[in-house]
Amino acid sequence: MNEPRSPLVLVIGSVNIDHVVVTDAFPTPGQTILGRTAHVTLGGKGANQAVAAASSGEVRTAMLARVGDDVEADRARAGLVARGVDVHGVITVSDAETGTAWITVAPGDNAIIVVPGANFRWPSEDDPTGGAGAEAAVVLAQLEIPLDVVQRAAAACRGRFLLNAAPAAELPDELISLCDVLIVNEHEQAALAGQSDAEQAREPAAVREAHAALRGRGAKAVITTLGGSGAIVTDTDGTTTALPAIPADVVDTTGAGDAFTGVFAARLAAGDSLLEAARLGIAAGSLAVRTPGAQQHHVDLDTLRAMAGTTGRD
Ligand code: RIB
Repeated sequence: MNEPRSPLVLVIGSVNIDHVVVTDAFPTPGQTILGRTAHVTLGGKGANQAVAAASSGEVRTAMLARVGDDVEADRARAGLVARGVDVHGVITVSDAETGTAWITVAPGDNAIIVVPGANFRWPSEDDPTGGAGAEAAVVLAQLEIPLDVVQRAAAACRGRFLLNAAPAAELPDELISLCDVLIVNEHEQAALAGQSDAEQAREPAAVREAHAALRGRGAKAVITTLGGSGAIVTDTDGTTTALPAIPADVVDTTGAGDAFTGVFAARLAAGDSLLEAARLGIAAGSLAVRTPGAQQHHVDLDTLRAMAGTTGRD
């Protein structure tokens, strides 16, 4: 008799090569400053989330992406494979370059410019998941690929569709209404909910208000991640819960939201409740900020549960 297969997390999104400079402060427009160090590493919100999902165990993770016909693509594919991600859906676009991100890391924060390259070169076929969306327990997307591809992937999803609405953008109600869980930070929440000030958007009352508005537009559940302040989760029944952060000595915040999202998606697929999955996501984010880069941190379920103070039987 065949063993039952573990649930599938299908991540559709970006693969980037991250060019990182570490500085003491962000330059202002027109200013030249000296950096401390620079390095090139693996990134892309989609790839980072796929790595986090696969590393946390108990699920199969497959990535759907477009990369260039270059050595960077080979490196990115190898990185995904090494972390247990199925890359059969990572397709080479012959006349494009693999996406790049240009990242400044300064104490406590980062600033990123993405040049999408091949990430924006998807064909216009109806189902960008090629049928896999019907098999996946969770389909997870972000906004570093064309919006119409995200929309068609959401439509092809027969399990739960999760959207990490990053980078910040306004979205049509048609897409929001397909989201089983919409995951944002305060900037993305502000952009979606028409809140003008991202600092004020972090306030619990503002988060609740935005979640109510987004649920009113059709999202079934909404999560706002708040970095060092944890996350606020509004569940499918409208109950809102503030989850605390897990303190960490911060080295690099790049990819912390991706670690949260990837682990959250994997745990939902594995059968955890929304709150339990979010607690483990927060633990993953806390691990991520302790190491440089967006994929270097090591995530395993026992460590995450120990950090989150959960048993797996809650
Ligand atoms: O979320 C962090 C990621 O954003 C980086 O890895 C970079 O590639 C950009 O996509």
